[in-house]
Order: sequence, then C-alpha cells, then structure tokens
Amino acid sequence: MTDFQAAFPEAELSDNDSRAVTISGSKVLICRAAGELYAVENRCTHQEAELEGGRIRGCFISCPLHGVRFDLRDGLPMGQLTREPLPTYELRVVDGMIEVAVA
Ligand code: FES
Repeated sequence: MTDFQAAFPEAELSDNDSRAVTISGSKVLICRAAGELYAVENRCTHQEAELEGGRIRGCFISCPLHGVRFDLRDGLPMGQLTREPLPTYELRVVDGMIEVAVA
C-alpha cells in the first residue's frame, strides 16, 4: 500500500526552488521546476552530495558539487560522472499540503 506523508505547504516553495525534508528516515528533496512539483532522493548518485539548492532549469536539477544534471521526472542523470538514476518518489498535494510516498 502506498503511504503518503505530509511534508510542508506547497505555497512555501517557489518556482525553481527546492527544500530538503526527512520522511520516515528518508532524505527527500522536494522541488518545484517549471511550475511542477517533484520529489527525489536528496543525495547525488555520483558522490552523495546533497542536491538541495542545486540550480533548477526546466525539469532538471544540477548537483551543487560537480554539476551532474538529473531529470526530475525520472531521476536519470546526464553526462559521464554517474549512470545511476536518482530515486524518485510519488508526490501529491492535498488541501495545499505536499505529501510524499516513501516506501
Ligand atoms: S557529487 Fe554530485 S556531481 Fe559529484
């Protein structure tokens, strides 16, 4: 069963911004990119840097450490540094509150 848990009100996240939260012990990064909300693991698959605050353009976030870009829709990385996708999480908004499903 998919278990959604509240994160924070969606009104608190502006476009092209991200915020890290811990949900059920998982480090999750919630991003708003081109108006859409996404939830991914807050840990780069290259050398485990936190992705919070990484530059968001279109539906991509760039790792602040070495700049690998990840597609927020499916977690897939660009370039040569890593081929491992970011885990992504289901996200929904209920009564203005962002909720994330962490397995
Ligand atoms: S740790 Fe993210 S690109 Fe190297």
